[in-house]
Amino acid sequence: MDLQILPLTERKPRIEDEASLAFGQNFTDRMFIMEYDNGRGWHSARIAPYGPFVLDPAALVFHYAQEIFEGLKAFRRPDGRIALFRPRDNMARFNRSAERMCMPTVDEEFFLDTLKKLVRLEADWVPRSEGTSLYIRPTMIATEAVLGVKPSDRYLCYIILSPVGPYYKCGFKPVRIWISDEYTRSAPGGTGEAKTGGNYAASLYAARQAAKRGFDQVLWLDAVERRYVEEVGSMNLCFVYDDKLVTSPLKGTILNGITRRSILTLAGEMELPIEERALSVDEILDGAADGRLSEAFGTGTATAVSPVGQFTYRDRTVTLGNNQVGTWTLRFFEALTGIQYGRRPDTHGWVELL
Ligand SMILES: Cc1ncc(COP(=O)(O)O)c(C=O)c1O
Repeated sequence: MDLQILPLTERKPRIEDEASLAFGQNFTDRMFIMEYDNGRGWHSARIAPYGPFVLDPAALVFHYAQEIFEGLKAFRRPDGRIALFRPRDNMARFNRSAERMCMPTVDEEFFLDTLKKLVRLEADWVPRSEGTSLYIRPTMIATEAVLGVKPSDRYLCYIILSPVGPYYKCGFKPVRIWISDEYTRSAPGGTGEAKTGGNYAASLYAARQAAKRGFDQVLWLDAVERRYVEEVGSMNLCFVYDDKLVTSPLKGTILNGITRRSILTLAGEMELPIEERALSVDEILDGAADGRLSEAFGTGTATAVSPVGQFTYRDRTVTLGNNQVGTWTLRFFEALTGIQYGRRPDTHGWVELL
């Protein structure tokens, strides 16, 4: 497919104070767009000035949420070059989400190539200060204008870019987690493994309850027994339990996180034994009390690694490591961000330089 590059008519002012950049609030000058029609396939691929779409109010995405997205980052290295982290994994997951949501897949090579062209054109939007990056959001929405629960005949696929500030503005501080015994995020056979908007809409109510009680994030338990850890907010969760790295297995209810996958590889290299099994709430509460559970951290593109300081379940709160960042947590954070920003060698071929 040909890619058209349309001229830019206006440039937005650059954000000078990179430390003040909030997540997902600012967008660059250009975006990528392509369209799909049944019988014709993907067409009209173009890089165009960033701007709103005109969509029919009956478009299927507005009613039945046929939508998927991805999230990855471009990092500015000390030598000024720009690096993407495991972007092929995001392309592959985009297509897996597409299949689950009955949407057309994209040509992964073309999509990645286009993404790179877009980031290259917008290179001066990639911030330079410590811990900043350019967040990349590939998205697909159902645009056929019809009321009726069915896969759309038409789609729009696009990529937008957002410069984001440092991960940890107030330092690398442990967060407080509320374990929900009432709400769940996804059930076996559901869409938990797909990166689709409905999963996130469904999580808002519990997140609001948690915030009202002063917690940073919600920990989701499994929907069947309400006993086993699944995910935290929009991160996978890792524990250091009995001197092993324990993380929930991929059984279709949680997102197959690219950061999670990377941490498992790094743990293997650091000779920390790995157990892919779901920890129970009792193991968290008792393990924090008797010291078997020494550390916990979330993993995801937004923060890389996010230390957990406290868990609260019903009326019981436990604190890990005196609410200080654990040694393994820090090691993983430094190893991963070191590779992303080029401070450490990339021995896995995870980094793609532009
Ligand atoms: C629900 C959920 N779990 C886990 C993750 C972490 O995935 P990744 O490491 O690929 O960013 C994300 C996204 O960032 C997510 O939305």
